[in-house]
Amino acid sequence: MTAADTRNRHVVITAGPTREALDPVRYLSNHSSGKMGYALAAAAHAAGAKVTLISGPVSLATPSGVTRIDVTSALDMHTEAQRLAPTADLFIACAAVADYRAEHVAEHKMKKRGDSETLTLTLVKNPDIVAEVAALAAPKRPFVVGFAAETRDTQDYARDKLTRKGLDMIVANDVSQAGLGFGSDDNAAWLLWRTPEGVESDTQPPQPKSALAETVIQRAFDLLDT
Ligand code: C5P
Repeated sequence: MTAADTRNRHVVITAGPTREALDPVRYLSNHSSGKMGYALAAAAHAAGAKVTLISGPVSLATPSGVTRIDVTSALDMHTEAQRLAPTADLFIACAAVADYRAEHVAEHKMKKRGDSETLTLTLVKNPDIVAEVAALAAPKRPFVVGFAAETRDTQDYARDKLTRKGLDMIVANDVSQAGLGFGSDDNAAWLLWRTPEGVESDTQPPQPKSALAETVIQRAFDLLDT
């Protein structure tokens, strides 16, 4: 596909971690650096698309030409994704969204209690952003790509996620491999996508995230057009 073909496409990408507040000074989060999502945004822009990046808190520069919307929590990201996904041709969920948030966020800093060695937090499930986008009805539903960052049984979990979340494509990677995935500039991945005949896959060897991002964007646009 040439840049001209993608010029009128709108790509919406979620990236980075989310932060789930416990009190005014503490939160739950994860190690996502946002690098893969930002590389995807840069690759989609380079392919000629209009790109909106819904970003959790990361210390990365916004790729040139990309519209960035900063969010903090999973609920904030959910609100922005719901608003923007129906305007997208391609939605890529690359964010490491916290699965749970605190049921109650304390208004004031929680104090250490002298009378107990343990503290119990009650967490409630966050909405599954990408699954909700994938469940949109046509014509509002974009082509939907998800990510699966796993530390074991990557292929099994990825297959299950593709089906359970109703995705069109999934990019799976083993984040336990040293030098790959979280925080690193390189990534290896297993791509899995639906075809009318079933599910196809290919293996992407370790490579810079920018190169993997180009492959994912190209593959998604090719599938979008078939
Ligand atoms: O279920 P799990 O978190 O492993 O799934 C990962 C995929 O789902 C990623 O594409 C991630 O961005 C997306 N996700 C989401 N909303 C959540 C949890 C995950 O969009 N609440």
